[in-house]
Amino acid sequence: MMRSKLLGAFILSCILNVHAQEKKTFTIDASHPIADISPNMWGVFFEDINLGADGGIYAELIKNRSFEFADPFMGWKKLGENIGEGAFLVLNRKDKPNNPRFLRVNTNLSAGKVGLRNEGFRGMGVKQGLRYDFSILYKQSTPGITLHVQLVDSLGAIIGESNFRPEKTGVDWQKQQISFQATRTEPKAKFILWFEGKGVLDLDMISLFPEDTWKKRPGGLRADMVQLLADMKPGFIRFPGGCIVEGRDLANRFQWKKTVGPVEDRKLIINRWNTEFKHRLTPDYYQTFGLGFFEYFQLAEDIGAEPLPILNCGMACQFNTAELVPLDELDEYVQDALDLIAFANGDLSTKWGQLRAAMGHPQPFNLKMLGVGNENWGPQYIERLEVFKKALNAHYPEIKIVASSGTDPEGERFEFLNKELRRLQVDFIDEHYYRSPDWFLTHANRYDAYDRQGPKIFAGEYAAHTDRTAGTGNRNNWKAAIAEAAFLTGVERNADVVGMASYAPLFAHVDGWQWTPDLIWVDNLQAYGTPNYQVQKLYATNKGTDVIPIRMENEAVSGQQGVYASAVLDQKINEVIIKVVNHNDYAIDGSFKIQTKGSLAQDVEHVLLAAGLEEENTIQDPNRVSPKIDQVVLQGKTLETQLAPYSFHIFKIKMR
Ligand code: AHR
Repeated sequence: MMRSKLLGAFILSCILNVHAQEKKTFTIDASHPIADISPNMWGVFFEDINLGADGGIYAELIKNRSFEFADPFMGWKKLGENIGEGAFLVLNRKDKPNNPRFLRVNTNLSAGKVGLRNEGFRGMGVKQGLRYDFSILYKQSTPGITLHVQLVDSLGAIIGESNFRPEKTGVDWQKQQISFQATRTEPKAKFILWFEGKGVLDLDMISLFPEDTWKKRPGGLRADMVQLLADMKPGFIRFPGGCIVEGRDLANRFQWKKTVGPVEDRKLIINRWNTEFKHRLTPDYYQTFGLGFFEYFQLAEDIGAEPLPILNCGMACQFNTAELVPLDELDEYVQDALDLIAFANGDLSTKWGQLRAAMGHPQPFNLKMLGVGNENWGPQYIERLEVFKKALNAHYPEIKIVASSGTDPEGERFEFLNKELRRLQVDFIDEHYYRSPDWFLTHANRYDAYDRQGPKIFAGEYAAHTDRTAGTGNRNNWKAAIAEAAFLTGVERNADVVGMASYAPLFAHVDGWQWTPDLIWVDNLQAYGTPNYQVQKLYATNKGTDVIPIRMENEAVSGQQGVYASAVLDQKINEVIIKVVNHNDYAIDGSFKIQTKGSLAQDVEHVLLAAGLEEENTIQDPNRVSPKIDQVVLQGKTLETQLAPYSFHIFKIKMR
């Protein structure tokens, strides 16, 4: 027994030794760029899934602020011991069809103190010393009720409070705001509104925002989440999805016009992810559209990304109702697309340009591309797309059209759409792949043989799924992220074919998700990037301007012996950037020979991302898998270095 164990150990050490001596020689030809890299190559895909918008990046803390959820009191609890019949009434008015309900509080009907408590979106993240801005719309005939506003911790202790008495009377709605400071940090706070005095008060849009929103905008976005996006320097942001574009049925499709203008006039709908997965039901998931199309454009501008809106093409989600708009009734949908371009780019003489200006952005948003349909497929999609394309090309020939190649990156549906979209000469074909890490590793050469003359590819949604697509067990671990890093060398190498790429989905709340894996995870107080985020960020922040050839033992490097590589030139900063993945459980000695006419700086910046395959980042340990930077030294024009097991490397070499 002992002898065979020793023999086993000896054989293993011989194997490891063989690997330890394994050496690969790479040649990089920096003098012959082979393709331009689109400046907006690496971007982000935004969808309101996993509490991405409401309960996520949209910083509103009150859930169901306008009582429009199917259950008007969802998220609210009535407080008080002797609440009289009719003390809280939900009224439905005619003159506000987008926000018909409001709350009537009648304190004359109750013997004691009455109040309302809001639970927030899985609680409210509250920070000590921070200012909180509370606001309401109200209406009354006589002043009589004082409002006591409180934030309480998970045990009910007050951690911030204020009070005021609405004074204005009359039939018009009035807005009133007060601010107060939180005395303690609490991840699961709740909000209470006590009503003191006698009277009748109508309330709507009961709202609470922290002061520290992105750019300190009132009613704005969570700064930590936006910062993570900005740090990626994304080339584009696709919004608003995803399947929410389609809706489970057409009535609940995403309609951009209902998401602009004053927030109290934006028509709330159920979020399709509310009921999509039986194993992850999220009954309180709605879209208030506080984050609407104006805010999406503004976000794009803030983070330096090209806006890429995707619109419904007259088809509801084909996994759900698959409702179709008859072809001769598509006008409204097409008009929405034309009007959206006017909203983004139109001058102030246009109705939509005026609305944009009234919302605070007289300058155009410079929209350059538009998606028609999300994951739609079949001849019905092609017929509808043709109608859109004709109208868009006629009115706005400069706008690039992004079209869907369905849900899968291969198979009959894909083949059909791929052929049809090329026939139609769309500008971008949107490909989606949620596949296993092995798929990513074995498909790194996917784009090597693509037609160079046809439409560009938008790798619009991808992620390595360690369990199964739409399963709950997918992990954002290094196993998934390194497979994506390997695959993306093939995307970068083919930058003449692939014009844009984005991981999906973007955000997930640790207590409110429906889909895994996701690029960025948050709780009510913190946000962190996954290993997958680190990979995307490294590509986006080292994208270069031109692809240059890199060969290993004289071949393009696409997974031979577990090695993947691509190389780019950054003409703006005169740098050669090499990306290499060693997907082996042993180290490899790499010899990188750079062919260039000029000389090279000897100090090379080396960025290393490496971890155990199962390792992940977490709220408690957000930087466990994150890049480490050091310097390596070039010998003349050759870099001798070791590539650690399961590692992703970037070498940045300055040209003189
Ligand atoms: O990213 C999650 C979902 O995956 C998107 O909504 C949809 O487009 C795809 O099926």
